[in-house]
Amino acid sequence: MSLDIVILAAGRGTRMRSRRPKVLHTLCGRALLAWSLELGRALLDTPPLVIVGDSAHGDAIQAQYAGQARFGRQPVPRGTGDAIAWAQPHLQPGTRQLLVLYGDMPLLQAETLDALVRGQAACRPPGLALLTTERAEAQGFGRIVRDTAGQFSHIVEERDCTPAERALTELNAGVYAFDADWLFGHLDQLAVHGNGERYLTDMPGLAVQTGLTVQTQAALPEEVMGVNDRLGLAQAAALMRRRINDGHMRAGVTLIDPDTTYIDADVAIEPDTVIAPGTTLTGCTRIGPDCEIGPASHLHDTRVAAQCRIRHSVLEGAQVDTGCTVGPFARLRTGARLGPRVHMGSFGEVKNSALGADVHMGHFSYVGDADIGPRVNVAAGTVTCNFDGRAKHRTAIEEDAFIGSGTQLVAPVHVGRGARTGAGSVVTRDVSADTLVYGVPARVRPPSTQSASHPEQTDGTAS
Ligand code: UD1
Ligand code: CA
Repeated sequence: MSLDIVILAAGRGTRMRSRRPKVLHTLCGRALLAWSLELGRALLDTPPLVIVGDSAHGDAIQAQYAGQARFGRQPVPRGTGDAIAWAQPHLQPGTRQLLVLYGDMPLLQAETLDALVRGQAACRPPGLALLTTERAEAQGFGRIVRDTAGQFSHIVEERDCTPAERALTELNAGVYAFDADWLFGHLDQLAVHGNGERYLTDMPGLAVQTGLTVQTQAALPEEVMGVNDRLGLAQAAALMRRRINDGHMRAGVTLIDPDTTYIDADVAIEPDTVIAPGTTLTGCTRIGPDCEIGPASHLHDTRVAAQCRIRHSVLEGAQVDTGCTVGPFARLRTGARLGPRVHMGSFGEVKNSALGADVHMGHFSYVGDADIGPRVNVAAGTVTCNFDGRAKHRTAIEEDAFIGSGTQLVAPVHVGRGARTGAGSVVTRDVSADTLVYGVPARVRPPSTQSASHPEQTDGTAS
């Protein structure tokens, strides 16, 4: 049977008290709507149809998800029953079955929807299927009303409930599989309620009256929770986080304390990596096997290869190759690339720079817009002075160079292979290979004296 999916997202979402549309609020790294779209993809080859408001909110949603969804517009938010009417012109030709979801239910699972759709298809006589849940904490949900024989009768919205109906604990999840022809043939029979809205939730009651089968399918309460406000967003995020964390642990990742480990939906971690408490892994972060990440680290859009150790550090848009040790208290910003076995110790910062294999950058350094060759030693307090107040300039340091403590490298500048800088040097001109420079501004030390001393001990004031 040919299926189409409609996601309703045209409501005002006033309970969020936000300038942003409700469905663009994020939960574990994805917008609420993205969670629904993902479900759509699991059931359908074509992108689902999303009904948005004819408003700035609608524009924002459509701009963010162009190409990932088809869109229809509800001119004025006059309720879920009105919203569905605006879907009709956009349905795929030949649609027989329509799955309707709300855009604020991120915890729904594809298997549940698949069963609902199959249930509807099997209805004899034809009818509709809807998802319900049983929950004592019923606030905000429509209640399922059954007749004395226990057959489904209708849904009553909370605001219209009698006290007896309010006490009902079987709830409307807000997910329906309809026969499309029947739905659009009967929409005009929906009553307008006191608040000026037409409710999609009146359709199942109407179906009963017109002799259709209405099938209810029970789901777990946590799966059908709808996000209506910021409290709901936090509650749903907590449930989702647990689901994500459980998935990683089942796949071979150790989370020392799952309750304080925050992993976004699109993060990938390979087995035998250990994530310590207080760690946040967000965006498209990828972590290889046998790493130790955390405690108290934040990695965003960062790739980490195997056997790395990252403690108490912040990495954003960075790449870390095999066997690196980072932190405590290191910061890697966008475009930081650490080669194999780089050691980056406390209070170092790297931005838009490549550090070659086995670079050692122990403490208190800033490396920005630099290319550093293999085995270079970057001693404490080294700074690449990359910004002259107008433009950024690059620093290049060739392999095996030794940058003494407190060296300032005034970019653009190039330090040759095996060169050394004395402690406190201010390097304003290029340094040739195997040469020692020292002082302020740094000058070359005559060759006769070069081999004798440790560059760190060079007296910066000598002439
Ligand atoms: C709705 C159901 C309720 C159910 C609950 C489950 C109705 C009338 N009530 O209530 O029975 O228990 O969900 O979470 O359907 N929307 C539009 N256009 C509108 C109004 C809403 O597209 O004019 C969209 C919203 O963007 C949202 C969805 O429909 O994604 C549901 O709207 P919402 O206001 O959240 O309904 P609830 O009060 O939660
Ligand atoms: Ca809702």
